[in-house]
Amino acid sequence: MTLAIRENLSKSLSKTFPDLPGQAKLRYFSSPGRVNIIGEHVDYAGGTVFPAAIDFRVHFVIRKNGSKLIRIHSLDFGSELITEEPLYSEEKPWANYILGVVSEAKKLGLKIEGFDLAFTGNIPQGAGLSSSAAVEVGTTFALSKLFSWDLSLEKIALLSQAAENKFVGVNCGIMDQFIISVAKTSSCISLNTDTLEYSYHSLDLPGYEFYLIDSQVKHSLKESEYNDRRREVESATSKCKKLSPDLKSLSEADFAILEKAGLDPVELKRATHIVRERSRVNNVIRYLEKKDPEAVGRELFLCHKSLSEDFEVSCEESDFIVEWSKSRNVLGARMIGGGFGGCVLILDKLGRSGSLFSEFEKIYFEKFGLKPKIYRFTISDGVREDP
Ligand code: GLA
Repeated sequence: MTLAIRENLSKSLSKTFPDLPGQAKLRYFSSPGRVNIIGEHVDYAGGTVFPAAIDFRVHFVIRKNGSKLIRIHSLDFGSELITEEPLYSEEKPWANYILGVVSEAKKLGLKIEGFDLAFTGNIPQGAGLSSSAAVEVGTTFALSKLFSWDLSLEKIALLSQAAENKFVGVNCGIMDQFIISVAKTSSCISLNTDTLEYSYHSLDLPGYEFYLIDSQVKHSLKESEYNDRRREVESATSKCKKLSPDLKSLSEADFAILEKAGLDPVELKRATHIVRERSRVNNVIRYLEKKDPEAVGRELFLCHKSLSEDFEVSCEESDFIVEWSKSRNVLGARMIGGGFGGCVLILDKLGRSGSLFSEFEKIYFEKFGLKPKIYRFTISDGVREDP
């Protein structure tokens, strides 16, 4: 955390909230956004995902305040909230990612006292880079340190996911909170979302780079059809399990099961994506080990097609970015995250992104009236205290 960010956080905190007699010293934390290389919309179907954290972060300052009050302040929204009880806030949605953590921690019987927290960050919001999960995981990690809960990184991820599922109301899987908790510099993880077993893999393709184009179509997972997709997957899963009781998750099914399970046409499309994504994930892991970027890129294009046609979570703008990139011979491109807008991940030869993007910007603006953004990133470490 730079000195400028640190000073900005502490000044804002003391300007926003008057000193309290029992307050302790300030502590600083930060947590990253994430990309997902492959394994999309499978983390609530027991599939394997392959995400990494990126060097876009949310920064927090926090202290015990010696009272019963929770006082929280978002520098980026220029808004604060003071409360004794973690109640859902309709007017200040940003606060729910923090209050949700407090509420879930209380349900687990974890001891919590009054605290002051201020935060700011540079993870673009609604871009599919998990800015909300970063706030949840950063809060859980910071509170765990402050109140000596001593939670493992896995437990931090699960508590943060519970805040999103039960308090914020988005029925997300575990991928985002997990990678933000356990990430290491230069590595992706392959995470089996059924068992939560995971391992680190290097993401090193010399001469090539991954980067992101933000469609500037803002998705909101709650308003979008994310929860519908999860319901469709769950109904497909229970039909498959009726037919094949030993099946642990939909991600393990094969086409023989899908054909006989009596799925309706929509369930069949969703299940087809999930089953095919399983082999794409395995292929990408293998191709990365063999340092075969062309083959990795082909899987990214296939993944996008499946997300767009079978899983139906893309949109016209993201499809356009992928098609245009393909026409310019990039190695691979696909939408990432929940979908319905947000970012497209691109894999290409190093050094081409600048000129391609300036050409693209014009065409995209003419077609959609939107100014896309390009984000270059490096693979970063996970949530941490910044002493
Ligand atoms: C969002 C959710 C994740 C995951 C992705 C799609 O980011 O928070 O749990 O389902 O969408 O892969």
